[in-house]
Amino acid sequence: MKDTILKKFKEVYGDMEGVKAFFAPGRVNLIGEHTDYNGGHVFPCALTIGTYGAARVRKDRKLRFFSMNFERLGVIESDLDDLKPSKEAGWTNYPKGVMWAFGEKGFKIPWGLDILLNGNIPNGSGLSSSASVEVLTGYILKEFFGFNVNNQDLALIGQFAENNFNGVNCGIMDQFAIAMGKRDHAIFLDTADLSYTYAPVRLEGAKIVIACSNKKRGLGDSKYNERRSECETALAELQKVVKIEGLGDLSEEQFEEYKSAIHDPVRVRRAKHAVYENQRTVKAVEALKANDIVQFGQMMNASHVSLRDDYEVTGIELDTLVEEAWKVEGVIGSRMTGAGFGGCTVSLVKDEAIDTFIKQVGEAYQSKIGYAADFYVVEIGDGPCVL
Ligand code: GLA
Repeated sequence: MKDTILKKFKEVYGDMEGVKAFFAPGRVNLIGEHTDYNGGHVFPCALTIGTYGAARVRKDRKLRFFSMNFERLGVIESDLDDLKPSKEAGWTNYPKGVMWAFGEKGFKIPWGLDILLNGNIPNGSGLSSSASVEVLTGYILKEFFGFNVNNQDLALIGQFAENNFNGVNCGIMDQFAIAMGKRDHAIFLDTADLSYTYAPVRLEGAKIVIACSNKKRGLGDSKYNERRSECETALAELQKVVKIEGLGDLSEEQFEEYKSAIHDPVRVRRAKHAVYENQRTVKAVEALKANDIVQFGQMMNASHVSLRDDYEVTGIELDTLVEEAWKVEGVIGSRMTGAGFGGCTVSLVKDEAIDTFIKQVGEAYQSKIGYAADFYVVEIGDGPCVL
């Protein structure tokens, strides 16, 4: 892939002087969904698929962007002195947002850049292609301009850009998982204080299989912000009767004791998911550490049920993929992953069952939904790097 992007860079920008190549991964979340903006735990990992980039510093303040994933858009130009989000800027709003965020955090970018990207994460699949581009951009800026930031700072800057430049009120999970990724490990992150540990994911005789629903996201982002504000309202109601900072502070028992403070049945279910999913994530990681993969899989299944029935972010496409997966012998666990409303599912599947899984779930999905799903057997990889 390095050769491919360098070759294309020369073709697009004419010469290769000062060019360096970079990579940032995509991510999948194993469990802990919609907990990262509720002060709860998440358990994601970086993937070996992600975004490749070639870049060099210019002698003026111009920015030029080219994506091999959107070739027909050609070279998109901008300027460091004009960093504003716009519809016409398309995907370049992600790198531009990060450049803007560096400025907001007091890091002055001296020179413009020529950047070329090529991602092998399926677009809009829920494997965080946008967070991957954000972390990659931060990494490129740090490498070229020597900014004193570590990978955790890159995650926070990426999230700041997503929230304040691109208007999606996301939590920290995606950028953190990408910036801090470690081969063969998932990251057990407490989003209340950003403390984290790495847990080895030893799936002897099984693999992580991603099923991509190919459903266009559409209303996803606005529904995401709606869920977030439902949780915030529920938290404010609970704070009248119990001293907590976030829904992640409550045990299941405490939630049952105090839930009558929430004056709307829908909000009770949203908050219930946030509390129970957080506790489930803690228990799932304990099970994994004890090598109890069966228990881990059951927690994944329970996570999906809660996201389907209480949090209501699945939809017929993701439910079909998961419910069909549960029918296949050799599936250890299966659930939707990421924001929901389309995107992907993540399943742990025994090696000998993978072919049957892809065939059986694929056929059932095609016949019920009317178009095909895509399947990827993935591996857990490292965070961003220079190639
Ligand atoms: C999206 C957001 C994350 C997280 C998940 C749901 O991926 O970007 O911050 O909230 O949804 O768990």
